[in-house]
Amino acid sequence: MSDIIGKNTIKLDLTDSTNNYAIKNLDMGKWAEGTVVMARGQTAGRGQTNNRWESEYGKNLLLSIVFYPRFLPVQQQFLLSKIVALGISDTLSLYVENVSIKWPNDIWVSNLKIAGILIENTIMGNGIRSSVAGTGINLNQKKFTGNAPNPVSLIQLLKKPVDCEEFALLLFSNIEKWYKMLMNGETKIIDLTYLKNLYLIDEEAFFSDNKRKFKGKIIGVGNTGQLLIERKNGIISQYHFKEVEFLL
Ligand code: BTN
Repeated sequence: MSDIIGKNTIKLDLTDSTNNYAIKNLDMGKWAEGTVVMARGQTAGRGQTNNRWESEYGKNLLLSIVFYPRFLPVQQQFLLSKIVALGISDTLSLYVENVSIKWPNDIWVSNLKIAGILIENTIMGNGIRSSVAGTGINLNQKKFTGNAPNPVSLIQLLKKPVDCEEFALLLFSNIEKWYKMLMNGETKIIDLTYLKNLYLIDEEAFFSDNKRKFKGKIIGVGNTGQLLIERKNGIISQYHFKEVEFLL
């Protein structure tokens, strides 16, 4: 059971985007921390870098969680991505095997994407004033028609439908567990567990940056969320989001 996340839940039928709804209506002090906005459908679901998020009406989990992590310095905001990704991957792991976090914060099962995260923060001074953590998790959608390269859902993997409400409650309690650790300053365990669950960690793989295709090994993630890749010659390069591509 969770005592922060989902205590207050706003259930919408259709909205443009649960992140937009939360950001527009988020009224300091009125919306308790942990308020969740859920919708059965989105008309303009947003993904990372202006992508659209595809989700068939009524089939999947589409939600945004409001946090007020004022204790978190701006430079450490990637920790929010980590705890949300960990909460989602813990929950999915109750249903299927081979769940991992594909840097920076996609959730994959084997080499297919099952969930995405879009976190939007407002900053005050050196701290985070509010954070809207949106996630779309593919539960019961059987066919994907958009241009996402490798979508998958739980129903495709399990061959049976998943109860959205039940999944949401497990998710809230798992994300809350990690959020409480963050509040308690237990960042070491968050960092270590994120790395342990990272897709392709310590494995030779092919990547490409704006210069060329190369072989390397993910060896970690820096404080601001940059990916650290070591090449055969021992040189370590740092990449921010969209500066490097995984060649699968
Ligand atoms: C991505 O992988 O590109 C991130 C996708 C995030 C989608 C979710 S669905 C709920 C919330 N509302 C949005 O408009 N986007 C996020």
